[in-house]
Amino acid sequence: MKKNIIIANWKCNPETQEEAKRLFEEIKNGIENSNTEVIICPPVIFLTAVSFKESGIKIGGQDCFWENKGAFTGQISPSMLKDAGCEYVIIGHSERRKIGETDEEINKKLKVALNAGLKPILCVGEGSEEREKNQAHDTVKKQLENALSNIESVIKNSDSFIIAYEPVWAIGSGNPCSFEEAEDMSIFIQKTARELLGVSPVRKIIVIYGGSVDESNAKDYITKSKMEGLLVGGASINSEKFIKIINSI
Ligand code: PGA
Repeated sequence: MKKNIIIANWKCNPETQEEAKRLFEEIKNGIENSNTEVIICPPVIFLTAVSFKESGIKIGGQDCFWENKGAFTGQISPSMLKDAGCEYVIIGHSERRKIGETDEEINKKLKVALNAGLKPILCVGEGSEEREKNQAHDTVKKQLENALSNIESVIKNSDSFIIAYEPVWAIGSGNPCSFEEAEDMSIFIQKTARELLGVSPVRKIIVIYGGSVDESNAKDYITKSKMEGLLVGGASINSEKFIKIINSI
C-alpha cells in the first residue's frame, strides 16, 4: 500500500532540548497509523537529542550547505546531516528564499544533498502578488527549471523525488490554498518536473502540499487534491494537532 508522507517542519522551535525531546516522544507515542511515513525536521542542534532510532519516525534537516566540508563558518553540510541520521533534507523553503537564497544556490544544494545520499524535499510556490497577477504557474515553472537544471547526472540513482507545493501566501497565514487550486498545481508540477527530469518507470515524482495545514483540512489535501503528502509547520509543534493530522490520513 502506498504511504503518504507527512513532514513536520519545526522551523526555529522549540527553545530547549528538553522541549524538543518531549515533543518528539509525544508525537511518537500518539501515532496509530502505519499508512504514513512520518518525517520530523527539527532544528539541527536537536537532531541527535531526539531518539528516532527504532521509533518508526524518520528525521531530516531544514536546509543544508552546498559543500560537504571546509571553511564555511556557520554552515551545516549534507554529509553532516547524513551522519546525524537524516534521510531527508528540505531545500528552498520560502522562508530561506525570503532572506536571500537564490535558485542557483538551491540547485547547488540539491546536487550535493543527492550526492551525499539524502532525499531532498524541494519547496516551490508563488507569492500573493504572483497569484493575483495570474503568474502562479509561470513562477513555479521557473523555480523548477532553475532548481532542477543539469541535475540528471546526480539524480539518476534516485527512485523518487519529492516536491512540496507551498504557496507563500498560505504559509503560516491560516489561509490555506483551496483544494481545487492545490490539485491543479499538483498536476502542473508533476507534468513540469517529468519533462525536466525525463520520464522513467523507476522514478516517481511525489508532490506534497504545505501551507496552513491543520487537523481539519489535512485529509482533504490527500483525497480531494490528490497530494501524496503534507509539509506541516505551525501545527507540527503542537503534538495533539500533529497526531490528529497523522491519524486522519
Ligand atoms: P505552516 O508552515 O504549516 O505553518 O503554514 C508550512 C511550512 O512553512 O512548511
